[in-house]
Amino acid sequence: MTERDSRVQGIFNRINASYDRINTLMTLGRHAAWCREVARRAAVGPGQRLLDIATGTGVIALAARRREPRAEIVAVDFSEAMLDSARQKPGAETVTWEFADAHHLGYPDESFDAVTHGYLLRNVSDIPRVLAEQFRVLRPGGRVVVLETAPPRGLLRLALSAGMSVVLPLLGRVVAHDRDAYGYLKDSTLGFIPPVEVARLMAQAGFQDVGYETKYLGTNVILWGRRPEVG
Ligand SMILES: C[S@@+](CC[C@H](N)C(=O)[O-])C[C@H]1O[C@@H](n2cnc3c(N)ncnc32)[C@H](O)[C@@H]1O
Repeated sequence: MTERDSRVQGIFNRINASYDRINTLMTLGRHAAWCREVARRAAVGPGQRLLDIATGTGVIALAARRREPRAEIVAVDFSEAMLDSARQKPGAETVTWEFADAHHLGYPDESFDAVTHGYLLRNVSDIPRVLAEQFRVLRPGGRVVVLETAPPRGLLRLALSAGMSVVLPLLGRVVAHDRDAYGYLKDSTLGFIPPVEVARLMAQAGFQDVGYETKYLGTNVILWGRRPEVG
């Protein structure tokens, strides 16, 4: 694990208790709906297997479970504290929660029908490697669906950057008692690559039919793709 990965892991191990509250505040309550959309687009059927990577407090995994009670849902994260928070939620006993680093998923090739993740890519040290792992564990024809932040542009960037500089550290101090952690969230959000670039990296990893839809004045995005049936 790189130094950057360890730092990110340390941050999420500290903020698990306040994560859901801050996320709801920051997205004005939209995060849950986006996670439901990710689950809907992943479209796992009865008996199929879904892997939710960087599951955090499990919002996407539990949305997928509610959508399809007969699917097998495996949810992984490299923060044990986030996983512990997920395990305490209603319905958590119907999901398999496991420790895994997105750079080295310990699952066999072609073992899942769909892969999802929310706010993973902006946190990892090696995006191509992480996407290659997802491609590897997906069966041919399997779907990947991604929720990410997108860097705001133009005037919105100025306004949001100023707003986040004030609001995030404040929320971090008041709600999470961890100003540094929320400073990192601001920097990683504003500093991330735009959706068109994420889509390009997904195509480069081998995914087909890559598309995306931005949300919330272009500050969030849902992307999708498919492992080709052959190859
Ligand atoms: C912002 S949270 C998102 C949680 C959840 N997906 C959601 O949408 O609410 C990011 C999560 O990614 C996890 N994470 C970051 N880098 C990771 C890695 N290399 N492997 C596994 N999990 C990682 C963190 O531990 C954290 O739980």
